[in-house]
Amino acid sequence: MKEFKRTLITSALPYANGPVHIGHLAGVYVPADIYARYLRLKGEEVLFVGGSDEHGVPITIKAKKEGVTPQDIVDRYHGIIKESFEGLGISFDVYGRTTSATHRRVASDFFRRLYDKGEFIEKTSEQLYDEQAGQFLADRYVTGTCPHCGNEHAYGDQCEKCGTSLNATDLINPKSAITGNTPVMKETSHWYLPLDKWEPRLRQWILEEHKEWKSNVYGQCKSWLDMGLQPRAVSRDLDWGIPVPVEGAEGKVLYVWFDAPIGYISNTIDCVGDDWEKWWKDSSTRMLHFIGKDNIVFHCIVFPAMLMADGSYNLPDNVPANEFLNLEDDKISTSRNWAVWLHEYLRELPERQDELRYVLTANAPETKDNNFTWRDYQSRVNSELVAILGNFVNRAVVLINKYYDGVIPQRGELQPIDREMMASVAESVKALTECLDNFKFRDALKEAMNIARIGNKYLADCEPWKLIKTDPERVKTIMNLAAQICANLSVAFAPFLPFMCDKLVKMLGEAKMSWDMLGSFDLIPAGHKIGEPVLLFEKIEDSVVEAQVQKLLDTKKANELEAWQPEVVKKDVGYEDFEKLDIRVGRVVECSNVPKSKKLLEFKIDDGMGGRTILSGIAAYYKPEDLIGKEVCFIANFPPRKMMGRESMGMILSAVNADGSLTVIGPQGEVKPGSTVG
Ligand code: MF3
Ligand code: ZN
Repeated sequence: MKEFKRTLITSALPYANGPVHIGHLAGVYVPADIYARYLRLKGEEVLFVGGSDEHGVPITIKAKKEGVTPQDIVDRYHGIIKESFEGLGISFDVYGRTTSATHRRVASDFFRRLYDKGEFIEKTSEQLYDEQAGQFLADRYVTGTCPHCGNEHAYGDQCEKCGTSLNATDLINPKSAITGNTPVMKETSHWYLPLDKWEPRLRQWILEEHKEWKSNVYGQCKSWLDMGLQPRAVSRDLDWGIPVPVEGAEGKVLYVWFDAPIGYISNTIDCVGDDWEKWWKDSSTRMLHFIGKDNIVFHCIVFPAMLMADGSYNLPDNVPANEFLNLEDDKISTSRNWAVWLHEYLRELPERQDELRYVLTANAPETKDNNFTWRDYQSRVNSELVAILGNFVNRAVVLINKYYDGVIPQRGELQPIDREMMASVAESVKALTECLDNFKFRDALKEAMNIARIGNKYLADCEPWKLIKTDPERVKTIMNLAAQICANLSVAFAPFLPFMCDKLVKMLGEAKMSWDMLGSFDLIPAGHKIGEPVLLFEKIEDSVVEAQVQKLLDTKKANELEAWQPEVVKKDVGYEDFEKLDIRVGRVVECSNVPKSKKLLEFKIDDGMGGRTILSGIAAYYKPEDLIGKEVCFIANFPPRKMMGRESMGMILSAVNADGSLTVIGPQGEVKPGSTVG
């Protein structure tokens, strides 16, 4: 392994067309933050770069839909995203945006450098064009059938069903997302980055020199390389983006996937100023890209090819990409609102940041897709954070306060049980560090939690609360060691649960912590006074989880209603058939529940012909008193029918809603009872 002086950590720039959700967090930001905090605790030089990705077609589509400008959209979501990351303690050194002046300049210069070096191919080709909208259709502006899997809702850049990356012209039956029209072909010219030129170097660099990359990442790269790389267009005919800095390129902007990764560079510059090159060009700096699996090809192939084409930049040393997180067994989806949104979580479960960080790490989709459920959230918080970690620290701190007024006692000679406990802690500490070094954050978290388990077992085995009467000298040793375990926990958990650790450090009255202190049993000197016990975690009540589950059920219901479409099933009939029905307007004079029936209401209707009784199965949807005085339509020439021992003379007409509920139909204006409907 190479020796590095410093580490540049980047995390994928989220699109500023919506807030971030737990899928983003588990896949990218929580692991990146854990790693950044870990390196800082080790005293390493780190720069952790984030920012919003503010270009691309989805933002313009959303703006159009809302009747606002793309800038309005990105201003809104950049604000929400930045604030919610802060709320969760994602410790970016900089969180920038790709509409900044710095970024525009840096991305534009990057393109121009490659252009001047002759690194692009300019090609004219026929592209899809929407004549009514007067616009070329690329990426998300066009939908159609995927040529690989037959999915009818594939986009012009990617099929979300089979994951294949597509060109808009690959789609079968393409339709414009703006007007719904079938596009025509029209000539346009674009600049292409010839990925094929870099293929041999990419093969050597990834497949030979980076066999240590995660197998999901390595495997995806290999299959891309084995399929053979093609030139990729790096410009688009759009009016939202960074203008292509070449004469005669009016109306063309940089492709969002060309400018966005350059955002890592621009944001570095905005953070450190003139010093930026040491982070990007010094060979003793290592670079890590934290991303989700849908970004692998861009970070392992396209962006490195751009960096190679420039020639003066470092390539990433590792790209620890994660798989996807599902929510309650269903794919997370921004458009279907199927997500736990970070900004809502922070509002609805205040002061519960570490709980979310914990569950998302314990359940991280590191090697395969994983699932978040609110029940699992509750059980992990209650049976792990509260019952193991919180409980141990609380017991230790309470006893030290009770026996010694909070002053750490001097310890005496160690017993075998003490040495065993210390050896177990040392083992966990070693495993913890190894896991972190290998980006195995789930396992790392388990090892940290194991230290608390060891602490609990130690107290349970030693039973200081019994010994205090018979052997108070021995209890001093036990409680001293328990305090050292607490101090170890405050370091071990620091990358994962920063809010809890702040509380714990305050409670212990510790000085600054660092990773190399971990495993020591001389972290808090005898005679040091600690504070009063403070609860580190509180239980999640059933009602909290039920409310969150209900919220998701409501979303599901709303989605179903939205997706509902009336079915056309009835055959044509002649007017003669319609004429046979005697439909009339009547006024409700009385209305009451039918005893013993949950469904039926009994109506006395003024039908202009002396009145009649009608029974109707709408009791679930109306209170009787709300219908009195209303006008309704009814069928007047059905034969009498008995229900619940009562006779009904006709049928009141209702509309059937998508969810099966009924709404009574009546005239929109003043109509005399008895009038016919036709
Ligand atoms: N916005 C992209 C996404 O959410 C990620 C961009 S990463 C960057 O998938 F490198 F391009 F910035
Ligand atoms: Zn497909």
